[in-house]
Amino acid sequence: MKKTILVTGGTGFIGNCFCKLLLQERPEWKVINIDVCTYAANPHTIDEELKNPNYVFYKEDIRDRKKMDEIFAKERPNIVVNFAAESHVDRSIKNPTIFLETNILGTAVLMDCSRKYGVERYHQVGTDEVYGDLPLDRKDLFFTESTPIHTSSPYSTSKASADLLALAYHRTYGLPVTVSRCSNNYGPYQFPEKLIPLMIAKATNNEKLPVYGQGLNVRDWLYVEDHCRGILAVLEKGKVGEVYNLGGHNEKANIDIVKIILKELGKGEELISYVADRHGHDQRYAIDPHKANVELDWDPITRFEVGIKKTIAWYQSDLGKKWLAECIESEQEWLKANYENRD
Ligand code: NAD
Ligand code: TYD
Repeated sequence: MKKTILVTGGTGFIGNCFCKLLLQERPEWKVINIDVCTYAANPHTIDEELKNPNYVFYKEDIRDRKKMDEIFAKERPNIVVNFAAESHVDRSIKNPTIFLETNILGTAVLMDCSRKYGVERYHQVGTDEVYGDLPLDRKDLFFTESTPIHTSSPYSTSKASADLLALAYHRTYGLPVTVSRCSNNYGPYQFPEKLIPLMIAKATNNEKLPVYGQGLNVRDWLYVEDHCRGILAVLEKGKVGEVYNLGGHNEKANIDIVKIILKELGKGEELISYVADRHGHDQRYAIDPHKANVELDWDPITRFEVGIKKTIAWYQSDLGKKWLAECIESEQEWLKANYENRD
């Protein structure tokens, strides 16, 4: 059936992958991308999508109520999926305010428009970081959908606020909301401020790889396409008012990720540089994705050994190299602010 789906943050890493998936697998749907293109959005990310007649792009800010109302009035989306966010924990530590504005107030604007124009589904893309962290020595513990919200950073707090607001709009106004919370994504087109693309970029250039603390913090890594398939499954099979955890069954310590990247690139471990730890650094994230598996028939299909090779190969391709160089150029100020004198 033909649907109009409005995706926000569709020029970013996961939002673009989701648009690609929709254009490929739901070719009868119209895909609208609203993205203001912050530093985290390289405009060339959507070069291919712009050629597709089923794809429309609005360079607008989700906080702009008037503009959002105009777009909703014109496009009358059936489904809204909100990816747009400030997404980097380290930046939230340096400047929390923009995280509250975009991640909380922007979400409220989209949900008000969704109510006004009667969408069939509003989906909020969330993170496992809303559950806080797990101790490194309790491998038996995992986040489930009923794990209490217990945030550590301004980023995770803003995302938890957005999730709670979305669930409140469901209960109070009957907005047909679903929420998904996923673990750390990796794959092509991820901005090189996050661990995996940053380390690929640095290792490629024979620069030092800045590992926070002792590198023992653990993340659960999910290939971006698997995450996007999970969101589509929530839209098509999930129940409104519900939260679904999407995890990768793939926990790794940061230092092991860094060593895998170095090995894959044929570089030596002498490039590793242990630097001052992140304030409030979460120890371990680990998702129990049982509910999504049973209710949505969803499971991540990309093994990490395969996904990381595909990711590195993309960053080493001509397109990937060019894309990365454009991002790094716009990132110089941040690299200085976060890493200079951090040893
Ligand atoms: P990203 O930073 O790569 O992309 C975010 C996009 O949102 C960018 O294109 C940016 O321009 C856009 N944006 C920011 N502010 C906006 C605004 N005010 N109006 C319109 N557009 C705006 O982030 P990502 O990694 O693709 O993450 C997407 C979503 O998934 C976020 O909500 C994030 O919290 C969530 N998430 C990400 C991860 C991960 O590992 N990357 C894990 C869990 C959850
Ligand atoms: P990141 O990719 O920022 O994701 P998140 O903090 O949302 O999990 O970081 C992943 C892990 O890698 C996290 O434990 C922090 C660590 N890290 C480093 O050790 N060095 C770095 O330069 C960065 C960006 C992250």
